[in-house]
Amino acid sequence: MLNIALPKGRLAKTIYPLLSAVGYSCPLMEEDNRLLMLENPEKGVRYLLTKPSDVAVYVEHGAADLGVVGKDVLEEGQNKVFELLDLDLGKCRMSVCAPDGYQEDPEKVLRVATKYPNITRGFYAAKNRQIELIVLHGSIELAPLSGLSDVIVDLVETGGTLRENHLHVEEVVLPVSARLIANKSSYRFQREEIERIKEALRPKREEETV
Ligand code: PRP
Repeated sequence: MLNIALPKGRLAKTIYPLLSAVGYSCPLMEEDNRLLMLENPEKGVRYLLTKPSDVAVYVEHGAADLGVVGKDVLEEGQNKVFELLDLDLGKCRMSVCAPDGYQEDPEKVLRVATKYPNITRGFYAAKNRQIELIVLHGSIELAPLSGLSDVIVDLVETGGTLRENHLHVEEVVLPVSARLIANKSSYRFQREEIERIKEALRPKREEETV
């Protein structure tokens, strides 16, 4: 049985048809239900639907052999897994964002709000910039608007949330996209099967799609 952890939501809906097409179909995945573990013994596959930020935890500990996770979560969690493939899906940018008209005072400690403390710490340490880290769990854009922080480090996809809240990107920290990851020992012992899945999920280059 191959266990595959997928992040609940849009990404799972995009990835599942690709996996189904290469032999890992599971009718329960096509139903409207609230199951979190869905298996098809005939095809030897079990899907685990996790919170996006937990996929790599399931894979690291071997509860899942394979998983799909954003590069942001991988960098932040530093889980011990193999990153096999850039799926070129769910693309966005982790960015430093500030209110329109913001002027940084380099003499002052910068107050940075984020959901990504490890990435943020590393980013500013590399610049030798002293910061006060403020960890939040969502609606990060509210922090500079309310005076809680000077800037934020957060994901920007369409830029709509920033625009509506009169914020803008100051700097890109990390380009983000979905990655296929594998448990280290699963990869060793089920290498052939995992490699076959990896090749099936490999994004087509433009010249191959026309
Ligand atoms: C994410 C991110 C931004 C927004 C960016 O938040 O934290 O707030 O999406 O998307 P956009 O550039 O297309 O507007 P999410 O919706 O995941 O919720 P959160 O505020 O709880 O993190």
